[in-house]
Amino acid sequence: MQSGNAWALQPLADMTTDEFQNWQKLLESRSGMVVSEQRRSFLQVNLTARMRELGVSNYSSYYQQVTDGPSGAVEWVTLLDRLTVQETQFFRHAESFEVVTDFLSKKAASLHSGSSLSLWSVGCASGEEAWSLAICAAEVQRQSPNRIEFGVTATDISHNALRQARQASYNPQRMSKVPTEWVERYFVQQGDGKFQVASWLAKRLCFARLNMLDLAQAPISGMDIIFCQNVLIYFRRWQRREILNRLVARLAPGGLLVIGVGEVAGWQHPDLQPVADERVLAFTRKG
Ligand SMILES: C[S@@+](CC[C@H](N)C(=O)[O-])C[C@H]1O[C@@H](n2cnc3c(N)ncnc32)[C@H](O)[C@@H]1O
Repeated sequence: MQSGNAWALQPLADMTTDEFQNWQKLLESRSGMVVSEQRRSFLQVNLTARMRELGVSNYSSYYQQVTDGPSGAVEWVTLLDRLTVQETQFFRHAESFEVVTDFLSKKAASLHSGSSLSLWSVGCASGEEAWSLAICAAEVQRQSPNRIEFGVTATDISHNALRQARQASYNPQRMSKVPTEWVERYFVQQGDGKFQVASWLAKRLCFARLNMLDLAQAPISGMDIIFCQNVLIYFRRWQRREILNRLVARLAPGGLLVIGVGEVAGWQHPDLQPVADERVLAFTRKG
């Protein structure tokens, strides 16, 4: 270790091949994230930035620190936030949300009053996807003659992303894809100009930390909608298929699984039927 200032003035050293491979293995085994050779500089820049903050001067010492017992576990959480891509938007892929709304409307029409629908945003980042699902469900609820209830579960590996998601307060620039009518109905503008999700809607959301590599142990089942976009792309192909198979097992019969277009090629599941809409990649569970 060196003093933070002395280290901050030094030029960045390149990682050796062995160091890079150790970091690659650690990240993939713990989070599924594949850091390809092309993303080596991304890894290096982010590691170095964190190492400067801590005053650690080489990659191997920092690796030791991250993998060392309980204090390593704490540092891992911080590092993971720096390395995961958390880019997201409200109604990011509009066509997928149209399919969700259509599915919920049909479902609501076939249910008895008092029935409840369960939705799940997998890899929810700072919450925009989960709130978008909640707004779709709330719109269907408003228009349905039956009194339908709903709840949204939203999970992510990143503590920092989940903290922002729970805060549910967004800068005006982030609201551009939310129709004005919905902004008025589902948000309250705060003194600082930010938009806060209305508390009655927020009560329907539950945010929890879940690593998608640990899905087998997740106590989640019987979901009517599972929405998983822009996450699987960071995993190896075999891993994506395994995750999808686990998600299917958590879908209720007749439930809807929505994935990002182009995120998995050639994957099929005997219990699923593709949704006939070329704009989206979605499936319903048979039965
Ligand atoms: C690019 S964002 C996508 C957010 C949102 N689904 C969307 O489409 O806008 C990817 C999210 O996946 C999360 N993520 C990455 N690896 C994960 C893992 N192993 N388990 C759970 N979440 C993970 C990241 O923390 C990040 O918030």
